Amino acid sequence: MTHSNLNLESRCIHGGQHPEPTTGAVMPPIFTSSTFVQESPGVHKGFEYSRSHNATRFAFERCVANLESSGLSEADDRTCGGFAFASGLAAIGTALELLDHGAPLVCMDDVYGGTFRLLTRVRVRSAGLHPTYLDLTDPSRLEAHLAKHKAGMVWVETPTNPTLKVVDLAAIAAICKRHGAISVCDNTFATPMLQRPLEMGFDMVMHSATKYLGGHSDVVGGALVTNRTDLAEKLRFLQNAIGSVMGPFDAYLALRGAKTLAVRMRRHCDSGMQIAQWLATHPKVEKVIYPGLPSHPQHAIAAKQMQLDGKPAFGGMITILLKGGLAESRRFLENVHLFALAESLGGVESLIEHPAIMTHASVPAESRQQLGILDNLVRLSVGIEHPDDLIRDLAHGLSKA
Ligand SMILES: Cc1ncc(COP(=O)(O)O)c(C=O)c1O
Repeated sequence: MTHSNLNLESRCIHGGQHPEPTTGAVMPPIFTSSTFVQESPGVHKGFEYSRSHNATRFAFERCVANLESSGLSEADDRTCGGFAFASGLAAIGTALELLDHGAPLVCMDDVYGGTFRLLTRVRVRSAGLHPTYLDLTDPSRLEAHLAKHKAGMVWVETPTNPTLKVVDLAAIAAICKRHGAISVCDNTFATPMLQRPLEMGFDMVMHSATKYLGGHSDVVGGALVTNRTDLAEKLRFLQNAIGSVMGPFDAYLALRGAKTLAVRMRRHCDSGMQIAQWLATHPKVEKVIYPGLPSHPQHAIAAKQMQLDGKPAFGGMITILLKGGLAESRRFLENVHLFALAESLGGVESLIEHPAIMTHASVPAESRQQLGILDNLVRLSVGIEHPDDLIRDLAHGLSKA
């Protein structure tokens, strides 16, 4: 049974899962063995060595493939469309290995700082990649670029980290198809509960499973999902050849987290909207960036492509610009207590951070300025605590800003 006909809530729990065959264990055991016995050379039960085959990792890979509607066979782990890695960046690094040395690619201009760092400071040197950064909130920019230049891959993040720009996924997918570029969407912020890139025509989805998929800030991991058999075959080869796989303990935790994704995302979305609306009325806040507010420049696209139960839903990430500069940001961040001042996002607990100094320090100052990652910009990851408590905490912090 593939479970692909179930609602997403049920797929979080059952998608690609089946009881462990030896004992009937309902939850997949953590298979720690690095190697597996063979009856005769080359005669075995489908498991040789744990980098290549691990049943706990396969269980998470089938779950995430199912959630992103990969559609490739779940019956054989080797042809399943999901791949799990040691981190989100390990997933990105492996995806980039689909490109040949020297390949040109297009990347959304505002992406997670680590994605930008990997491309510009590592792969330009080691693989000769030629990234062009474009603001893809206007898809005609991509069309105009691809009319003149080749690109092996187009890398999109939406909503982006940290300025929450929203990209029209269906439009970008159609342009990539016309020009023969592999389209990849980093779906970390929206999760498959809200946004379904493969169903909108994308070739691949990437996740930092460290964030909403894991959901509890207790595991670092990454995932890739594809619905193309040719890409799945290449990714399975690259995953094993490069070897930055997700370990069995992490796969167990990530799968355990994914089972509650649906209920968590409902709360993240409800509280995110409530807190964004409250912040928009606060005298010390110059601007609130949240795709759910009509003031967001791509609100209409967000409402169309980010949905839960057929209704627009915008997630738990909010970015604000405070009135003032670094001193005001510091005072605010030092005086919130329920929101932990920490990097990362997407956990049950609320987190808050200063991208210019923390997550996006690797983006050159000039690019940060252009993108609007300024000293008064603060990013919030709204957790699932009671929203009234979170608002009280923010009010206290802002009173000191
Ligand atoms: C949108 C996005 N993509 C990718 C990553 C990288 O994931 P990881 O930290 O799991 O390597 C992050 C990390 O913050 C992220 O926010």
